Amino acid sequence: MAIDKEMIAEIKNSVNIVDVIGEVVSLTKAGRNYLGLCPFHKEKTPSFNVIEDRQFFHCFGCGKSGDVFKFIEEYRQVNFLESVKIIAERAGIAVQVETTPQPNRRLHPNQALLDIHQDAAKFYHAVLMTTTIGQQARAYLAERGLTDDLLEVFNIGLAPDEADFFYRQISAKDKYDENTLANSGLFNFSEENNRFYDAFRNRIMFPLTNDSGQVIAFSGRIWTESDVERKQAKYKNSRSTPIFNKSYEMYHLDKAKSVASKQHEVYLMEGFMDVIAAYKAGVENAVASMGTALTPEHVQHLKKFTKKVVLTYDGDTAGQNAIAKSLEILSDMQVEIVRIPNQMDPDEFLQKNSPEALGQLLQQSRVSSIEFLIHYLKPENIDNLQAEIAFVERIAKIIAASPSITAQNAYINMVAELLPDYDYFQVEQAVNNERLSNRSAISQEARLQSMRVVELPVSKAMTALVRAESQLMHRLLHHAYLLNEFRHRQDFIFDTAELQILFELLKKQGEITTVDLNQMEENVRQMYYRVLEENLPEEIANNEVEAIESRRNQLIQERELRKQSKQIRESSNHGDTDQALLALEQLIAQKRNME
Ligand code: CTP
Ligand code: MN
Repeated sequence: MAIDKEMIAEIKNSVNIVDVIGEVVSLTKAGRNYLGLCPFHKEKTPSFNVIEDRQFFHCFGCGKSGDVFKFIEEYRQVNFLESVKIIAERAGIAVQVETTPQPNRRLHPNQALLDIHQDAAKFYHAVLMTTTIGQQARAYLAERGLTDDLLEVFNIGLAPDEADFFYRQISAKDKYDENTLANSGLFNFSEENNRFYDAFRNRIMFPLTNDSGQVIAFSGRIWTESDVERKQAKYKNSRSTPIFNKSYEMYHLDKAKSVASKQHEVYLMEGFMDVIAAYKAGVENAVASMGTALTPEHVQHLKKFTKKVVLTYDGDTAGQNAIAKSLEILSDMQVEIVRIPNQMDPDEFLQKNSPEALGQLLQQSRVSSIEFLIHYLKPENIDNLQAEIAFVERIAKIIAASPSITAQNAYINMVAELLPDYDYFQVEQAVNNERLSNRSAISQEARLQSMRVVELPVSKAMTALVRAESQLMHRLLHHAYLLNEFRHRQDFIFDTAELQILFELLKKQGEITTVDLNQMEENVRQMYYRVLEENLPEEIANNEVEAIESRRNQLIQERELRKQSKQIRESSNHGDTDQALLALEQLIAQKRNME
């Protein structure tokens, strides 16, 4: 059966050629295009271009070019229809393309196991939706925010509270042989009594599907008071079977995969209820592993659809530890981490707030993996110098491995701001040491880049505060109307002395001239050039200046707090309790002010 043109267009539109090629060719962004080494001919300097906005590739070396299908044809040595099928599968679009005649295609080697799972899902769902006990279970689920609509979407069911109800049902049909029943994972065989029992009893049933949407396993949750009191395991999962590998499969991936390919990211969560909460918040590209920690096989599986994982684990300590473990396994993926406040999981966050709030949190409350690690690894007692040193050593390695020098600088700042005994320069030193020792391991390009940075005069620690103020100064230098506004603000003073000098000059003359530059102190002149180097877009964004200012004010306040804590430590070290108490009082007052 052929596929029509519209279908082909839809398939093509559902993927980004940059992602597809990016999986097999290492691409770097060069202007508006992506550049890499051509996979079709031998070359040392990249001449293979991927043009994102027009969705095609072209190699200036060998002349090959074409769209995403053409790429697959060439790369995998398949024909056009096969390439369409490969892309469709990747995008999660179901197409029927007879590529090569396969008479037994419909008979999956484990067809019987798939069939029995389909029957089981239907059975459990019917029990939930149509029986009296199902009604009680639905009341429990409704309490948890699961409407009947959601029960349909997620095909949720209920296993009856009986020893072998489902077994009797299914064996009465005489549809499956004993082998299938034994291997399905849906029943336990008792040698003693020589009979089968239902593996799931009195549990809310979450069906798990493979990539094609076929049910392959279940997870069942307890829901009655008595099971809670008897401390039954909260969730029970199907055991591994020929169709279910729990180190590979993830909940909801069949539905999430096409959205994940389109949005170029997938949310990885801890629990089924979290995935459902995300769905309620309009986020459909969320999956959860099945009661096991993340494995490399899971990661391979996700990589079929996207290169970026947004870790959305619970905000509690266990969740944070799990993130740190998963980061190691996800080392060759792009990763962001959603920080959920107050130790909540996504589902609890939704219950306490709203679907909209969860949607926003998932989008906006993200940090990079390095930023996560900075907070995760930072010593519990921030005033312990020994612990600070150990932390800086460890984190410097991680920071030095980041490919972007700009990002490295931001992280250095972050670390310096956290630690009372370190300033930017000292942390940078530690990172530089790592950069140097990494040298042999990193590419020529990265080496050049890091050398450039090492050679820059590091005359003064560039703290986050100086950076914020420098951005503000950049805007004042280039936007006369803003300068006018600031002229009228009698109370505004730059915290950074050099910037304040520049500001005074600017207010007086409206510009900074060559003559001024010649007459200035060295450090002021350096600061001026640093401001010019700020890499900001020409236009001032909405609220940009307000945001810079409030960030600046916050940083100043935080610094004051740190100063005072230091003072308290010193006074109490010297036995000056009065002084320490006084300072403490001020500190508390100030913290209150900040809240
Ligand atoms: N899990 C499991 N076996 C358990 C407990 C948990 O397999 N005894 C798995 C399940 O996949 C569960 C996930 O770990 O979805 C997360 O567990 P937890 O955070 O305890 O559950 P929640 O997702 O919060 O589930 P609920 O809201 O229903 O309590
Ligand atoms: Mn929960």
